Amino acid sequence: MGNIADEIAKRRTFAIISHPDAGKTTLTEKFLLYGGAINLAGSVKGKATARHAVSDWMEIEKQRGISVTSSVLQFNYGGFCINILDTPGHQDFSEDTYRTLMAADSAVMVIDASKGVEAQTRKLFKVCTMRHIPIFTFINKLDRDAMDTFDLLDDIEKNLGIATCPVNWPIGSGKEFKGVYDRELQEIITYADTEKGTKEGHETRIPLSDEALLRAQIGEDKTEQLLGEIELLDGASAPFDLEEVQAGMLTPVFFGSALTNFGVEIFLQHFLKMALPPTARVSDKGPVDPVEQGFSAFVFKIQANMNKAHRDRIAFMRICSGRYEAGMEVRHVQSGRVQRLQQPQQLMASDRKILDEAYAGDIMGVFDPGLYSIGDTLCLPKDAFRYEGIPTFAPEHFARVRQVDTMKRDQFVKGITQIAQEGAIQIFQEFNTGMEEIICGVVGMLQFDVLKFRLKSEYNVEIYLDTLPYEHIRWIVNRDLDVSKIVGTSDMKRIKDLKGNPLLLFVNPWSVQMVLDRNKGLELADFSRE
Ligand code: G4P
Repeated sequence: MGNIADEIAKRRTFAIISHPDAGKTTLTEKFLLYGGAINLAGSVKGKATARHAVSDWMEIEKQRGISVTSSVLQFNYGGFCINILDTPGHQDFSEDTYRTLMAADSAVMVIDASKGVEAQTRKLFKVCTMRHIPIFTFINKLDRDAMDTFDLLDDIEKNLGIATCPVNWPIGSGKEFKGVYDRELQEIITYADTEKGTKEGHETRIPLSDEALLRAQIGEDKTEQLLGEIELLDGASAPFDLEEVQAGMLTPVFFGSALTNFGVEIFLQHFLKMALPPTARVSDKGPVDPVEQGFSAFVFKIQANMNKAHRDRIAFMRICSGRYEAGMEVRHVQSGRVQRLQQPQQLMASDRKILDEAYAGDIMGVFDPGLYSIGDTLCLPKDAFRYEGIPTFAPEHFARVRQVDTMKRDQFVKGITQIAQEGAIQIFQEFNTGMEEIICGVVGMLQFDVLKFRLKSEYNVEIYLDTLPYEHIRWIVNRDLDVSKIVGTSDMKRIKDLKGNPLLLFVNPWSVQMVLDRNKGLELADFSRE
């Protein structure tokens, strides 16, 4: 058993945000390689096989060969204990992807050097900035032809609204990729295409001052170009400021190639130095210090029906303070109940193990007898504070849902309401009517299939889903406003959520602004904190 303060100081808990195919999996693999958690790269992915080993609980996963759940990877490197939270992407992009970011202390943003900022990265980035967590950028695939480096930085700044500070600088790309220039050490690290799956290979370091050697190694043209770019860069880029990085206002930028394992360890080392260990989180009694306060955690994700026969659920919680020890009693604040956690486990890429102890920064999965909801707090029996809730994020796909068999109305309403309460989908109603019209909203299209599947297999209800054209949803911030008096647009629809909060749906993004212009004083939000 370690000293609590030391154990927490070692923790670095982060999520990787990226657009599909930017190289998130490949980069994770390489991190694990450095941590000695795996021997051969490739074992994280092995798309079909490894992922099923993680979670072959849902039929739909098997059918589609994808993972609906997200896993957590823990490994040690250089005296740190690192937790990587996987943010599901591709078709399994869902609210869980956003919620996972609520459990992270920082984010690594992977960008494909030939593509720049892409849609999914933009969405995830927004959630990170909402929390002001530090964001570290790894620009990947420099072994392929890349966009101009200044354009890439400009793209990040303009598209995401965050200042950038390159920690290193690429020399060429694709066939002409020669390596990176380390701005702090003022030396060039030459590119060596190391064998896939091995640790970083035989790179050489050349000081910038040794111009003759530099010219001999990377060529006249590349040397001239580099010297010119360094001059420009030193004049134009934001100075490095660790406080700004830690406040999420400035992102340090690194360049490399995850596939050929170039620049990955340099990135990891800098990241670990700059990223923060678990810090105080906001609760209704003020900030909670991770070391001073005894055990506390909040639920950020609930995964239902891992085993259909038992209808069990796993609640994933992020420990925010103190230490969890096997067998200890904790209070579930929302219900007031004091109990032992059931089968607390750590979910790894390839297996699960029962936890003996865990510290602030760690994630554990706990058997949920139907007690927990997303955002709930657990703490010591003597305490009773609550962490700030997890916001509800804007769904982007909507469908009207009806049961096929009208006789099964009650089962249908019960099922869909329960699934919505678990946070797998959101349900809405027409503004002026009751439950007779149910509109379902999801972040990723796959959730519609999940809903269909679960209603059939768990509640024996078949449904019709009629997709609706709306893509933009806004919560109305002004509580005292008469919603029926809002001057709308032809594509606007008024609805309400389960709690009766009024919302507006739009087909076109520009209609949102039009409605704001037409209704002075109206305030709209694209997430809800209630
Ligand atoms: P993701 O998790 O972000 O979706 O991306 P992933 O790591 O799966 O990478 C997507 C594709 O990009 C993979 O190729 C991967 O090998 C490739 N890739 C990742 N990093 C680099 C890099 O630094 N350079 C180059 N050239 N390619 C890179 P794939 O052919 O789609 O998959 P696979 O058959 O190799 O697994």
